[in-house]
Amino acid sequence: MRVIAVLNQKGGVGKTTTVTNTAAALAAMGLKVIVVDMDPQSHLTIHLGLEPQSVKSGSYQVLVKEARFEQEIMFVRPNLWLLPANINLVGAETELVSVVGRETILREAFKTVENKFDYIFIDCPPSLGLLTLNALAASEEVLIPLQPHFLALQGFGKLLQTVELVNKRINPNLKVRGILLCMFDSRASLPKEVKADIELFLENARETNCAWAQATILPVYIRRNIKLAEAPSYGKTIFEYEPDCHGAEDYKKVAEFIHSQFQMPAQSDTQLDTTSEIQEQPPIEIKVVSQPGSSSSVSEFTQTKVQED
Ligand SMILES: Nc1ncnc2c1ncn2[C@@H]1O[C@H](COP(=O)(O)OP(=O)(O)OP(=O)(O)O)[C@@H](O)[C@H]1O
Ligand SMILES: [Mg+2]
Repeated sequence: MRVIAVLNQKGGVGKTTTVTNTAAALAAMGLKVIVVDMDPQSHLTIHLGLEPQSVKSGSYQVLVKEARFEQEIMFVRPNLWLLPANINLVGAETELVSVVGRETILREAFKTVENKFDYIFIDCPPSLGLLTLNALAASEEVLIPLQPHFLALQGFGKLLQTVELVNKRINPNLKVRGILLCMFDSRASLPKEVKADIELFLENARETNCAWAQATILPVYIRRNIKLAEAPSYGKTIFEYEPDCHGAEDYKKVAEFIHSQFQMPAQSDTQLDTTSEIQEQPPIEIKVVSQPGSSSSVSEFTQTKVQED
């Protein structure tokens, strides 16, 4: 069973769209998939056609251990199950603040379905708080949707630093596996510049043991497509709403790529490093060099000391 957290603390980059449609495509390929809504906005739940107000029990109840994961997942499509979210999730971070082992509740919950499903995709909220930590502690792979536009890489260093921290302290199997370019406009030059910057940065990390050393930009990207923006309001996946559009074509390719190429090597001999501090990890700083009003804003990665924000 592969557990993939779809994460970017930047809002509106395509996380929920990616979880919904990649999972739907994999389910259509005959694989058994669970999607987990860890966002208090409940967008994944809505995208799959449920009213969050009608959700009596879901990810909140699993996190506060009022309910068991395997009983809460709802069968929403052939081969596709959803752990829905409702507004209660907003309070989970503060309610769990004094609970011992609060970062690993989801990981424990997933153990109950181990080997019964092929994939779990977690739709993370646009933040790096306890909900995201639970997602990262429970996952082996991180997929980062990224919209390659002006300031797209701002905050990217913090995101990688969080993954690294979880990798060192809680979950040694956690790796950034891929970056998915979403809402890509191949006619514009800036997306290509952003893509080239990320490629260079990832290339520089290859020989290190950091959590993104094996990460790649997925060779398939998601084109901007209005149908993808319309589908959620009908509570439909793109394959139900407009199966012949570019969005459906792109997400099908992403699912095929993830399933065929994007395999996580077994890491049974990895030891949990409880002694290392974040200062000892490969430091990163992402410096966004941009000129307001300029169409050629270029982001630069430099391997220098981490700047706390
Ligand atoms: N390729 C695309 N083309 C056009 N619109 C898109 C595309 N992908 C996503 N959208 C739309 O962009 C908006 C943001 O996408 P989405 O909700 O998937 O982002 P998100 O990262 O999950 O956001 P949040 O951080 O708020 O959870 C939505 O209205 C969605 O329908
Ligand atoms: Mg979302």
